[in-house]
Amino acid sequence: MCGIIGYIGYRIALPILLEGLRDQEYRGYDSAGIATWEDGKIDLIRSKGKIADLEKKIGDKKSNATLGIGHTRWATHGRPDDTNAHPHLDCKKELAVVHNGVIENYLELRSDLTAKGHVFTSQTDTEVLPHLIEEYYDQGGDLLNAVYHATEDVDGYYAMAVLSAKDPNRLICARLDNPLIIGIGDGEYFLASDMAALVEYTHQMLILENGDIADITPQGVTVYNKGQKVERKISVIDWDKASAQKGGYEHFMLKEIHEQPWALTQTLNGRISDDGQEIIFKEFDATIKDRLAKIDNIFLVACGTAYHAGLVGRHAIEKLLHLPTQTEVASEFQNRDAIITPRTLAIIISQSGETYDTILAMRKCQQMGAFTLAICNVLDSTIAREADAVLYTYAGPEIAVASTKAYTTQLAVLYMLTFYLGKLMGKISDAELKELIAALAQMPQLAEETISELESKIFQISLGFAPWNDAFFVGRGIDSAVAMEGALKLKEISYIHAEAYAAGELKHGTIALITPDVPVIALCTQSELISKMISNIKELQARKAAVIGVTTRGNQEVEAVCKDTLYIPQTNELLAPILANLPLQMLAYYAAVVKETDVDQPRNLAKSVTVG
Ligand code: AGP
Repeated sequence: MCGIIGYIGYRIALPILLEGLRDQEYRGYDSAGIATWEDGKIDLIRSKGKIADLEKKIGDKKSNATLGIGHTRWATHGRPDDTNAHPHLDCKKELAVVHNGVIENYLELRSDLTAKGHVFTSQTDTEVLPHLIEEYYDQGGDLLNAVYHATEDVDGYYAMAVLSAKDPNRLICARLDNPLIIGIGDGEYFLASDMAALVEYTHQMLILENGDIADITPQGVTVYNKGQKVERKISVIDWDKASAQKGGYEHFMLKEIHEQPWALTQTLNGRISDDGQEIIFKEFDATIKDRLAKIDNIFLVACGTAYHAGLVGRHAIEKLLHLPTQTEVASEFQNRDAIITPRTLAIIISQSGETYDTILAMRKCQQMGAFTLAICNVLDSTIAREADAVLYTYAGPEIAVASTKAYTTQLAVLYMLTFYLGKLMGKISDAELKELIAALAQMPQLAEETISELESKIFQISLGFAPWNDAFFVGRGIDSAVAMEGALKLKEISYIHAEAYAAGELKHGTIALITPDVPVIALCTQSELISKMISNIKELQARKAAVIGVTTRGNQEVEAVCKDTLYIPQTNELLAPILANLPLQMLAYYAAVVKETDVDQPRNLAKSVTVG
């Protein structure tokens, strides 16, 4: 999605703005622009394409400006080109605005403003903002109030930053359902959509809340909400720029695949009691515990990879808690009359915590009285803050569009939550709990083993994917959930059309698509389902498919019927998805490398889909 950057202070703004846009490139964009203030006027430079194209336009321009804003745009209204790129200006070219989100009533606002004589130059919804602010600015002469009144007229959601040629010692910003963070420096302030763009300058982050409007001057930050001054805490984050950079890997995705043992360790840290008997969630006070103890049904709601984590979570919850459990795609959840009661636990899973569909689904659950528990990877993100409680994954910044370490740590949190609820509800014996927790505690080391043992073999296998535009993933039970995630990973970064099917469904249609040598990945980690999986693999073999089996060490019967077999370490089978998914991530990665796609920023995709 779009990225905002802003600076006000004593340093030259231009290099800071460009670096900040580069640090947010992974969010996905198709045009970029910068506006700085110098010698009484606004300098505006915008370009279709990448930041490198913008830099070509800037050329060797000399700038002494110490105030500026910048933006990378992922087109929603209006094609990606120079005129639709942000920042956008008012008629007098004295106001510059950058914006993330959607102004839903922009056509009505645009027609009112046009009737008042405003002239528009773009097809964007955003351009109504500078003209609307100009209207109020001309009436009242105060930038902060003008922005406040403009936000009152707007329907939709936004993160925006505004600078004025007539008030060059101020940067005004506002947020509603779109992230915006102020980096607190020493006599200087930074603004960005994502902390990764700020950590090289400061670790002190003021994370704006919904409805906040911040007035930033070199002297400090004042935040207002509904016209009243409010205090916002300063979050101190421990990410450094390196952890948000590639660390010597070819792509962020490969780095993040290899970070998973560490990410699992970080996520498990402090949450397993010393005697290994129970899960500890400091996040849950007595009131929350009391509420959770009374839960009698569970919804897991998310999008994409997070949804696939929810599918795995459902298996664990049903098996151990014996509670009615549903996993729902967030965008579809809006269209369901789901039965939600005050005894419903709605588990809202989101790496970014900013996925618009998931935010709406969470709010729907809250309106219907459910207890909403978020599983997020980004501190103080919208979902993390609005949910009734949040359990963070501590995977560190996930930059690649394809989610890997976030998924794996989401599984870890889902397993821990299931074990926690099992003890709270008296549904899991102490002995079983101890065994499950011990198996989970082993995951960082087993993940390390899996990645290091399989990576080179998987690279060899991926070479065989070069000619292919189709691939299939099959599994039964909890393995069918892993198959879905494997298919998404492969398709979203290699552009191979990959589909996941419950193995039992093959004969009901899909097997018509099985042609000689087509790659089929068969997940076979559940011992009670192995014989059925073997039969399905034989069906595939009869059509000469190239079957790649993923199974636990010692399962020679699977190897006997597969072209290639990828072995994962033995573990409690309920937890096998954590390990089984790792080879699928690596397969997707190396297939994309072989296909020479844009691995970290695949076409048409964005890291955080903050539009509906
Ligand atoms: C996963 O690889 C994709 N990038 C995408 O499906 C993603 O999982 C989905 O958009 C949900 O994002 P979230 O976890 O940040 O809510």
